[in-house]
Amino acid sequence: MEKINSPLKNPICFVAPGASSVDVRVRTPPSVAWSRLAYGLFQRTVKQNIRLLREVRGELQKNKIASAENESELLVRHFSGLERLDFFTGQFGVSPAARRRIKNAVKERLRGNPLGTVLGEAPFYGRTFFVSKHTLIPRFETEVLVEAVLKILKKEKLHAPEILDVGTGSGILAISLTLERRDCTMTALDSSAKALAVAKKNALFHGVDREIRFLKSDLFEKLGCRFKGHWDFIVSNPPYIAREDFKHLPREVLVEPRLALDGGADGLKVIRRVLDRAPYYLKKGGWIFLEIGSGQADLLRKNGTLAGYKDLRFVRDLNGIERVLAAQNG
Ligand SMILES: C[S@@+](CC[C@H](N)C(=O)[O-])C[C@H]1O[C@@H](n2cnc3c(N)ncnc32)[C@H](O)[C@@H]1O
Repeated sequence: MEKINSPLKNPICFVAPGASSVDVRVRTPPSVAWSRLAYGLFQRTVKQNIRLLREVRGELQKNKIASAENESELLVRHFSGLERLDFFTGQFGVSPAARRRIKNAVKERLRGNPLGTVLGEAPFYGRTFFVSKHTLIPRFETEVLVEAVLKILKKEKLHAPEILDVGTGSGILAISLTLERRDCTMTALDSSAKALAVAKKNALFHGVDREIRFLKSDLFEKLGCRFKGHWDFIVSNPPYIAREDFKHLPREVLVEPRLALDGGADGLKVIRRVLDRAPYYLKKGGWIFLEIGSGQADLLRKNGTLAGYKDLRFVRDLNGIERVLAAQNG
């Protein structure tokens, strides 16, 4: 056999001595053959991945999950552990074990559990937090509170502020503020030991476990008189759903912990307790920031609960609802 250079770009031609040009056999070199085989496999994997995604999306749509498109991808990629690029280019397929996990997750979601609880995590202020059935799933509205706190901290030119987070839940407020303001000293309390365990796990995950003091307490009870006039800022997203409104809540909100939602008859029960006691723990001129429900700003303006405070502000969320009360200790 004589080896000649082919006029074609890639192949090498092997020509038998004396053979005419029609006998020339062009053999694909091994590297090209492997690429074609790999390409074929990727194509097959992409198809399988997409088929799975469509099945999950179909299942969610059939059960009237509003954001089925988005959720199906989150569920499939979360439980398969695949990056977007790997999933959609077919670099990796979904293993049988991952398929089982996805199937169970879809079942859980269809039973009415919030997406965050099914995934075990949820986003807040650009970071990811662990959540559980013992914590509230972070809401976008609560980011308004973080923004409001950071704005006033900057405006007041406060250095090394002492901040208290009342009802920390999964710890999103305490941790986000600690990460945004590395000079602050943070204390976070909650009456639920199970929520506090999740908050501590989040603090560890975000590398601020040594910077936050966690405390199990019914509001300020455990603080006693040691911390009188101690805090620059008290922040809280307390439970504020009025009893009456529970019957209008979607199923997936109702499975969240009652302790995180129930604000008593008019929704202001915990808010009133916090507003009543906070001045004792705030420095003079210190600030309180409270997340409130729709329509509660007017109730608070009217009923005199804010009498001891000055410089009252209500910050609106993206829907134009007065969502955060900011007030200074008078
Ligand atoms: C609406 S959730 C907010 C959780 C978290 N800060 C957030 O924004 O996602 C209210 C939290 O307050 C806690 N809580 C309710 N009543 C409380 C009380 N009396 N003392 C302390 N914490 C309380 C609940 O356990 C829950 O974690």
